Amino acid sequence: TQALRLGIAGLGTVGVGVVKIVRRHADLLQARTGRPIVITAVSARDAAKDRGVNLSDYVWETDPVALAKRDDIDVFVELMGGENGPAKASVEAALASGKDVVTANKALLAIHGQDLAEQAEATGRVIRFEAAVAGGIPVIKSLTEGLAGNEITRVMGVMNGTCNYILTRMQSQELGYNALFEECAQLGYLEADPNLDVGGIDAAHKLALLSSIAFGTKPNFDGIQIEGIQHISLDDIHQAADMGYRIKLLGVAQRSARGLEQRMQPCLVPSASALGQLEGGTNMVVIEGDAVDQVVLRGPGAGEGPTASAVMGDVCDLARGLQISTFGRPATSLQEATPAITGLP
Ligand code: NDP
Ligand code: HSE
Repeated sequence: TQALRLGIAGLGTVGVGVVKIVRRHADLLQARTGRPIVITAVSARDAAKDRGVNLSDYVWETDPVALAKRDDIDVFVELMGGENGPAKASVEAALASGKDVVTANKALLAIHGQDLAEQAEATGRVIRFEAAVAGGIPVIKSLTEGLAGNEITRVMGVMNGTCNYILTRMQSQELGYNALFEECAQLGYLEADPNLDVGGIDAAHKLALLSSIAFGTKPNFDGIQIEGIQHISLDDIHQAADMGYRIKLLGVAQRSARGLEQRMQPCLVPSASALGQLEGGTNMVVIEGDAVDQVVLRGPGAGEGPTASAVMGDVCDLARGLQISTFGRPATSLQEATPAITGLP
């Protein structure tokens, strides 16, 4: 059987996690997909850096665009990050040269996803991005496959591990913001620009992708009302706790008579509720559909293993020949409106 050959651009937290899974589970992956999955070539900025994994079997490409165009790869795995720059250039190069793409890059897709999906369609390729939303939780697969028989009415949840980690640790340990920031860095949760995390922007990128999949619209990041957690103080957290609430950075996208409503902002949720009990880097995504009612998905939203797990789910689908376009139906134009949240889990 022909192997599925990967080219991986980006060998940081997630990229190294993917290399480890491909090496550790070679037999398992072959048994599950019916063909070997191998890494042909890799790329990162610093060729001399010790990354704690053996890369000597792979070709080193200094330029990720050159990696994306290589004839000896079938799938380009983009794990560098960034809304533009080498991530966008290399994904475009991969599609133009007939490669499927797997990425964890929500910033890229929330802004350029529609254009890239159209490029992919024009070349008969696909872009998969399970890891871009809620880390290790297979939320995109749930929406596009398991819940495909539903009209989705609402998606919401906690989608940034860093913010949830900071908010829950402020509550339980009374640690200051800076110390918690350092812990998140150690855990591999932070974006290259952590303002994206604490500013609610990273979570809003994810919400834009989720609601686009759920409602069949173009990703509309600009249509999201965004407020981060930078201004939440220990006092706020204590006062909320005294009243029986916790503060969570909550994203909501829902249909209403007024159109599609999207917002990402700190919200009070009851302390005893499932959302209120969500600790650390854990994420929770709630999906509501007309047939299923409500499904709650909970799991690690960031970090090496969980994110690499989601990347590999996409890689395995491609190895099996599943060429499903994740963005799904063509865009409809649901109007934006001011939202009102009710019925939190
Ligand atoms: P890191 O910062 O840990 O790694 C980024 C990697 O990309 C590094 O290996 C870096 O090289 C490489 N890189 C950066 N710029 C270039 C360039 N111009 N040319 C070649 N290589 C480059 O990021 P993460 O692994 O944390 O994140 C990667 C992607 O996954 C991002 O899109 C992020 O949003 C997403 N993601 C991350 C999650 C997480 O928990 N960390 C979870 C879900 C998604 P070098 O090492 O040499 O500096
Ligand atoms: N920085 C992101 C987070 C990584 O903290 O959730 C996962 O997307």
